[in-house]
Amino acid sequence: MKTSDKTPHRLLFICLGNICRSPAAEGVMRAKVHAAHMDDEFVIDSAGIGDWHVGQLPDRRMRERGALRGYRFDSHARQIRQSDFDDFDLLLVMDSDNYRIVTAKAPTEETRQKVRMLTDYLPEGSKATVVPDPYYGDMSDFDYALDLIEEACDGLLSALVEDK
Ligand code: 4NP
Repeated sequence: MKTSDKTPHRLLFICLGNICRSPAAEGVMRAKVHAAHMDDEFVIDSAGIGDWHVGQLPDRRMRERGALRGYRFDSHARQIRQSDFDDFDLLLVMDSDNYRIVTAKAPTEETRQKVRMLTDYLPEGSKATVVPDPYYGDMSDFDYALDLIEEACDGLLSALVEDK
């Protein structure tokens, strides 16, 4: 099959501010897709529920903790928009507040079904049900968020590739 014939997977990672968790998930997923030589098959972006940080790079602490693992998080924050529900196949949120707010914005039942918790893709047996907000925490909270994001992105990539 030619690359152009393949349906791209369009993924939007969403958190509250788009400066900690969702830009990290965007960067981690981008790296995993690149390592799998599947860049042409994915569209990957992130957005925030709030507009406080629009235009900003990810939080310095998340960029530092990500760099220690070989990631470069350099997206610029943007707020979610209604067209995201049409433009993406999956809207992956980090916690139950995100889920409640984003599903409430979905214009139709079909688009509501596109909203998923990122933690749904953690391995069976994982106890985590949310990626907690590290913003008011310390470096260990950023590392924990990254641990969950890396594991969930592995599960997400497997789920999407198997789905073909
Ligand atoms: P994020 O973290 O949702 O993972 O980007 C936050 C960043 C900023 C704020 C809250 C959460 N804030 O209140 O400014």
